[in-house]
Parts: sequence; C-alpha cells; structure tokens
Amino acid sequence: MVVILSALLFNPIIEVCGAARNLGLVFAAADRIQRVLETEPVVKDAGLPINVDKLAHNVTFENVSFRYDDNSEEVLHSVSFAAEQGKTVALVGPSEAGKTTCVSLLLRYWEVSGGAVKIGGRDIREMSLDNHHQS
Ligand SMILES: Nc1ncnc2c1ncn2[C@@H]1O[C@H](COP(=O)(O)OP(=O)(O)OP(=O)(O)O)[C@@H](O)[C@H]1O
Ligand SMILES: [Mg+2]
Repeated sequence: MVVILSALLFNPIIEVCGAARNLGLVFAAADRIQRVLETEPVVKDAGLPINVDKLAHNVTFENVSFRYDDNSEEVLHSVSFAAEQGKTVALVGPSEAGKTTCVSLLLRYWEVSGGAVKIGGRDIREMSLDNHHQS
C-alpha cells in the first residue's frame, strides 16, 4: 500500500520537474529568436533606389572581390565576367572556388568587398533590396 501511494505521489513531482525543464528550453529558444529578429542586416538600401524594370538585364561582375568577414580570407579576387540577357552562362570551377558565392552576391545576400556587380550597367547597390528578393 505504501509503495503504491508513494508511486502516486512521485509521478506528479516528476511531471512538474519535466515541465519546468521544458519551460527553460522555451525561454532559451525565444531568446535566440529574439536576437535573430533584432540583428541589423549587413546589406542595406542606400539613398534613392532606381527602377530595375526599365533596365536591360545584363549581368556584369567587374573586378569583384569578396570576403565573408573581415578576419577571413578573400574568397573572390577581382572576378570579372558578363552574362547577357537571355543567354545561359555557366560558372565552372572546383569545389569551394566561389561559384555559389557569386550567385549570393548577385542576389545581394552579401555586399561585395571590392569592385561592383551590375545589372543593366547599374550597380546593384543602387537598387532597392525589395527588387532583388522579388525577382
Ligand atoms: N556563409 C559562408 N561563410 C563563410 N565562408 C563561406 C560561406 N560560404 C562559403 N564560404 C567559403 O567560401 C569559399 C567559396 O565557397 P562557395 O560555396 O562559393 O564555393 P562553390 O564554388 O560554390 O563550391 P561547390 O562546388 O562545393 O558548391 C569556400 O572557401 C567556402 O568555405
Ligand atoms: Mg556551390
């Protein structure tokens, strides 16, 4: 009888402890989400954005250099190429060469460290970020 009663008594205590632990996890997760939401974006709009729709959509990379952060090695060293509107262009190179990085720069997930990425002859930094993330 005592065994049964003590078992009945302990189960709720264990459950409460479990709930308290879960609550801790929820607070920790909420804190991390909050920090992500409050982070200032690296890439920002500058001045008056130009209208992209009116441009020919030729893409050019002009002496583009890029490093992911100030302390890391340069990933792209003065890269230049042109991709004409309507043409299919392939970026070919070994793994880690920076192909995906080029595409990320064109989509403006990152800002170039040197040189310029241009669409229709205009620096993509002149364009609104909304423009990039729509198309
Ligand atoms: N988000 C990142 N932060 C820091 N360094 C990165 C990041 N993404 C890529 N790198 C580094 O940049 C370099 C180029 O990587 P990238 O992914 O552009 O190469 P890739 O040519 O697309 O390679 P793969 O053929 O393997 O896809 C690599 O040295 C990689 O470690
Ligand atoms: Mg890649």
